[in-house]
Amino acid sequence: MTPLLFGLDDNVLLHEQLCHQLKAEPGRLERRRFPDGETYLRVLSACAGRPALIVCGLDRPDEKVVPLLLLCDLLRQLGASQVGLVAPYLAYMRQDMAFNPGEGVNAAVFARLLSGYVDWLVTVDPHLHRIARLDEVYRVPALALSAVPLLAQWIAREVVRPVLIGPDAESAQWVEAVAALADLPSVVLTKVRHGDREVEVSVPQVEKWSDHTPVLVDDIVSTGHTILEAVQHLHQQGLKPPVCVAVHGILAEAAEERLHAAGIARLVTTNAIPHTSNAIDLSELLASGIRQMVEGRY
Ligand code: R5P
Repeated sequence: MTPLLFGLDDNVLLHEQLCHQLKAEPGRLERRRFPDGETYLRVLSACAGRPALIVCGLDRPDEKVVPLLLLCDLLRQLGASQVGLVAPYLAYMRQDMAFNPGEGVNAAVFARLLSGYVDWLVTVDPHLHRIARLDEVYRVPALALSAVPLLAQWIAREVVRPVLIGPDAESAQWVEAVAALADLPSVVLTKVRHGDREVEVSVPQVEKWSDHTPVLVDDIVSTGHTILEAVQHLHQQGLKPPVCVAVHGILAEAAEERLHAAGIARLVTTNAIPHTSNAIDLSELLASGIRQMVEGRY
């Protein structure tokens, strides 16, 4: 049965690329908002007995989740043989512990919520840190693909004499994996976070890399403050303007403008979240993961 692939966010290009690569039929949907802000959804494609897949990046999740859950439930009611979620960016993973008394482990709450509506999930480089594997919190098969080989290929191809820099310990898993694959030197800095937008980075000996191009590698750039701190310290130590490479460019609160104003050479992201900085295409990687899940090869 030809799968149906619904695009539920504004990543139109990725939806088209995935339809093409999977030979899937684009799902047709009528969608609008009632005057009171509630979501209206009507599925126009025949779903009975067919796999129904939804592509929906979960950056800025709170506004996307209600339409997503409504669509999952509707597809099931209409007889879809399976409902799969392709979320190139998976939200709430950074809330992976109660950092202060009175807080919740919202990564687990969010996982329980999604697990009640989908049969499986495919994502790319979720922020696995204190939660080491998705199956610790997801009750449905959840495949975490890695963009590391694609990052390594891009850096090796595009950057002259790169030295990889991780802005904090949580970036180490990405920086070290990219460094190993591309056979490049790497350094990981130490970050102390004082608030949502206040971070401080300490820099080990990096002057010896002054004839290299620093490449800051992280999984997520959100407000940009983590990268910004690192950029300022590299500048103080006389390094060249860095190239910043991230899997997920959330780029909240004018982050991109701030990074360019701080003197970065270039910002590069994958198309997990659509943005003008997208230079690394995830569609083939995602398509292979989706095929695996549709066929039940968990
Ligand atoms: C957290 O450790 C992540 O790996 C990123 O470093 C962090 O989410 C980036 O956030 P921001 O851009 O807001 O500093």
